[in-house]
Amino acid sequence: MRALCFIVVALVMSCFGHKTDSGLCTPKLENALFEDLLSMMLKIKGTQKGTNQHDETFSAFAASLTVLKTLGTGEIVKFDKVWTNVNNDYNPSTGVYTAPKPGVYQFSCSVMTQYNKAVRVLLWKNDMKTVAVYPGPNNVGHNTGTINMVLELKKGDKEYIKQGAAEKYIYSESAYNYSMFSGYLIR
Ligand SMILES: *[C@@H]1O[C@H](CO)[C@@H](O)[C@H](O)[C@H]1NC(C)=O
Repeated sequence: MRALCFIVVALVMSCFGHKTDSGLCTPKLENALFEDLLSMMLKIKGTQKGTNQHDETFSAFAASLTVLKTLGTGEIVKFDKVWTNVNNDYNPSTGVYTAPKPGVYQFSCSVMTQYNKAVRVLLWKNDMKTVAVYPGPNNVGHNTGTINMVLELKKGDKEYIKQGAAEKYIYSESAYNYSMFSGYLIR
């Protein structure tokens, strides 16, 4: 980039130096060359910006539950099977995701109930409840509910799925990963 700047400056200077009517430095050719070099520089600048964006902190995780569980009151669900953990911001032993930087984040959670039972869980942001899902026992068998949420977070904000009210029966099995939690930084 610096070298290119130098070349452009040198070229322009040299053209100002020899005001000839023919050759490299006719005004028309001079302009064309200048424009070419300018667009080349802009392209290189764009590429560098692209590389930098790619290098910026990105964060994404997805985890599922391997076994059914009767949750404790207010228990944070520890989705233990980690599928994705880019930047390692999700902790499977606590079930807590910590935002690595300020931004807009997307979170999803699907939970299935144990047979003929109910489960109620909420997505928390730090010490605040956000949205809930409550697949109930009204229909016979297993029921599933899903949370999809977009949140603006600060660095260090904590997101997790926590049991709420009286319904505690979450289902999953190792062969079918019915209950999961995921999230990622949109930008
Ligand atoms: C669920 O996850 C387990 C690993 O924990 C995997 O072996 C299994 O194939 C997955 N089930 C399905 C239906 O993808």
